[in-house]
Amino acid sequence: MSTSWNVILKRLGVVFAVVLVLFGITMLFTYDVIKIQWVSFMGLSPAMQQMEHPLPVATESIPIEGPAFIPNEGAPKNPVLADQASLARGAELFQVNCSVCHGLGGKGDGTVASFLHNKPADLTSPAVQFLSDGAIFLTITNGIPGFMPALNENLTVRERWDVVNFVRTLK
Ligand code: HEC
Repeated sequence: MSTSWNVILKRLGVVFAVVLVLFGITMLFTYDVIKIQWVSFMGLSPAMQQMEHPLPVATESIPIEGPAFIPNEGAPKNPVLADQASLARGAELFQVNCSVCHGLGGKGDGTVASFLHNKPADLTSPAVQFLSDGAIFLTITNGIPGFMPALNENLTVRERWDVVNFVRTLK
């Protein structure tokens, strides 16, 4: 009886050792200790690769929200009524996108303002409040090279007008 138990345990030991070795080999591949260049057909497709320059926008193409403004036609007119809903959205978007530089009250005293070489404008000042809605819209859209980043990719057209409406309340 005891001899057959010994045999069974020995065989189990061998099986266990074989499984352990196979598992170990699998892990070598799993954790890239041994690296294999798997065939990836997606990598061969003409798709955009990581960190590649995005394709230029086709000329005269129009964003899905409709044209924000017509180039060289001057400042656009504000199509969004400054009602409570618009101002509430504008206030929130201003806090997220503008207040780091311009400050919560728009005074140009945001958190990072003191670190900037070119100080953010005081949006409550007559100089800014004198600008038309469309001019402020274009400033948000295009930024001011070397001073303020273009925020057209952060804010939709509608959102930009909401922010313009909010900026109007800062005076
Ligand atoms: C990275 C910091 C930064 C952010 C973010 C920023 N601005 Fe500015 N902004 C500036 C600076 C700097 C100036 C001053 C440019 C100058 O002196 O000509 C400026 C100027 C302006 C002006 C005055 C433009 C003019 O013609 O005098 C307006 C209006 C304005 N910003 C609105 C906004 C709004 C609205 C947002 C958010 C949607 C925003 N800015 C986000 C830095 C910023």
